[in-house]
Amino acid sequence: MTWWVRHKKDNAVKSILSPDSRTNVQLFLKNSQVFYTVTRDDKPIIKKSRLDFEISGEEPLHDKLKLVRTRFFKHSETIEMLWGEDRFIDNTYTEGVFYLAEDGKEHRLFTIRFRVFNTGVAFRYEIPPQPKFEAIAIKDEISEFNIDLNSSVWQIPAYQPDRYEYNYEHKVLQELEESVHTPLTIKTPNGFYLSIHEAALYDYGGMTLKLDESLALKSDITPLSDGTKAHIKLPFQTPWRLIMIAGSAIELTTNRIMYCLNEPPAGDFSWVSTLKFIGIWWAMYVGEWTWAPGERHGATTEHAREYIDAAVRLGIKGLLIEGWNEGWEGDWLENGVNNKFTTSTPDFDLVNVASYARAKNIELVGHHETVGFVDNYENQLEDAYNYYAANGIHYIKTGYAGSKIVINGQKEFHHSQAGVNHYQRTVELAARKKICLDIHEPIKGTGIERTWPNLLTREGARGQEYEGGALRPSHACYLPFTRLLAGGMDYTNGIFDITNSVKRISTTLARQIAYFVTIYSGMAMAADRPSVYEEKFPEVFEFIKAVPTNFEKTVPLLGEIGDFYVVARKDRDSHDWYIGGVTDENGRTVHVNLDFLDEGAYAAYLYTDASDTHYRDNPYGIEIAVKHVGKSDAFDIYMAPGGGFAIRLVKSR
Ligand code: NOJ
Ligand code: CA
Repeated sequence: MTWWVRHKKDNAVKSILSPDSRTNVQLFLKNSQVFYTVTRDDKPIIKKSRLDFEISGEEPLHDKLKLVRTRFFKHSETIEMLWGEDRFIDNTYTEGVFYLAEDGKEHRLFTIRFRVFNTGVAFRYEIPPQPKFEAIAIKDEISEFNIDLNSSVWQIPAYQPDRYEYNYEHKVLQELEESVHTPLTIKTPNGFYLSIHEAALYDYGGMTLKLDESLALKSDITPLSDGTKAHIKLPFQTPWRLIMIAGSAIELTTNRIMYCLNEPPAGDFSWVSTLKFIGIWWAMYVGEWTWAPGERHGATTEHAREYIDAAVRLGIKGLLIEGWNEGWEGDWLENGVNNKFTTSTPDFDLVNVASYARAKNIELVGHHETVGFVDNYENQLEDAYNYYAANGIHYIKTGYAGSKIVINGQKEFHHSQAGVNHYQRTVELAARKKICLDIHEPIKGTGIERTWPNLLTREGARGQEYEGGALRPSHACYLPFTRLLAGGMDYTNGIFDITNSVKRISTTLARQIAYFVTIYSGMAMAADRPSVYEEKFPEVFEFIKAVPTNFEKTVPLLGEIGDFYVVARKDRDSHDWYIGGVTDENGRTVHVNLDFLDEGAYAAYLYTDASDTHYRDNPYGIEIAVKHVGKSDAFDIYMAPGGGFAIRLVKSR
């Protein structure tokens, strides 16, 4: 249903109501400037906030703007995701499109498109082709999100050397001093849980958020090295600016509007398959092996063949091999400018390893560590992907270590327009070669994996590589309410050798398997060495072996930001359910009601912390039990300090 309104007077307030009529977005012009507000149940969420652009070398737009016409539209469909946390997502919204034009001789045009969902609001700017502007440089985008300054925010800082890899901090909004990354999670004094983020980020700088001089929370688009925010060609549409709205923290965790705002798959991606993998990886982190060639080189033909055999024994389909190529010698962070992506070290024979993997039905996960030297990588990109494709490799993990990336000889932010476009080139090239990606040090997730389902996962937050002192138990209790609203994450789960002498892990054993449920990833790594799984805790590994990487649906159960989180997910390929829970440094008992289960009987395999388990001095204490349950049952489960639990519910046939 569409309806149009042509405006003679443009100072009237235009309203868009959500399908449930409870959220109301109002748009209006005042002194030729455009503003909007958002309320839900008549309670303010976004107070009067500006929407505007500044274009390099041009007069400001806002001086002579007028609203020419408005179009309203209702839309409802169920979208189906090829893989992920939920197979079906409801995409129901009311759309309002506001066509604006400049009075006077330049007569520049632009459009603001709003979509109002029951669980959030999104808008974007669209700049149509117009005679005077074929290409423009964006000096600034002024998208304000004027939220009560007494709100709580959970944030990580932007423009820092470790990109998105920081600990979340809880602050009052008015205390924000620097720019912060999105998703930015917010609790307002009038009881709303919000997350401000963006969707469909293409050919533009990533949006960070900052309090401006007038204390309005405002978009701060990541600049390029030339100081502009983006160079664009018209017609152009910006990414969607998204405000997720929930009544509780736990409800926020399954907000899927980000995917609704992305386009359907850009072709046939039926060849894409999610993957669990082990890797020649953690042995380097704990100092047993090295990335660089030498006596303790990890990525040798021999080790790779041993790990392939181990993957077969463990029932894990994939194997990552890091340190296989030329470029790791000496200080690899400095020397990475010369990394070669088609030349292996003398002790690693890719053809041999790949054919052995094929014979054993194991998928290799290739590795490209660019160290941020994107120019060097781009020069080899086509060859590098062809090399892996020719060897039957369908998965690549990429990495962009370093505080900036080098593109066209300039140091740029990972989350700048130049970075966004580079990452996109890798995704599209990989799709052409039928290769799936796991991007570390990535551009944040904005739901583009709906369109490019071969982008199976990203890192993009502090992961377990920071264990050994820089991760607190609360970190994994922040992620579901913050970073994971931007999509899956390769957290490198499942470290069982908790008390190793190099990187002591802040965890209990049960918590390490809980991560496979609490932190979704289309490519999920069982990160410890296979010998640890086989020799130390084979019965706990059974859970990792069983847990899927593709779910039919996700039911958020319990949680508070940074304190604890419990979630249930149903396998996409069976009738089985999985539940995971994590807590911060405080132990607690949670009441898990099983009413989300389907009708019928289930055998529940429980992996829980013991009463004397503690992440600091007794991390291995675990209890494994089997119970027979149905949907009218419930569990009271104890999570030790720094602990967690995992449950597999197998439906009786
Ligand atoms: C950082 C990545 O997050 C990590 O997984 C990888 O092992 C190193 N870079 C080296 O490439
Ligand atoms: Ca990293």
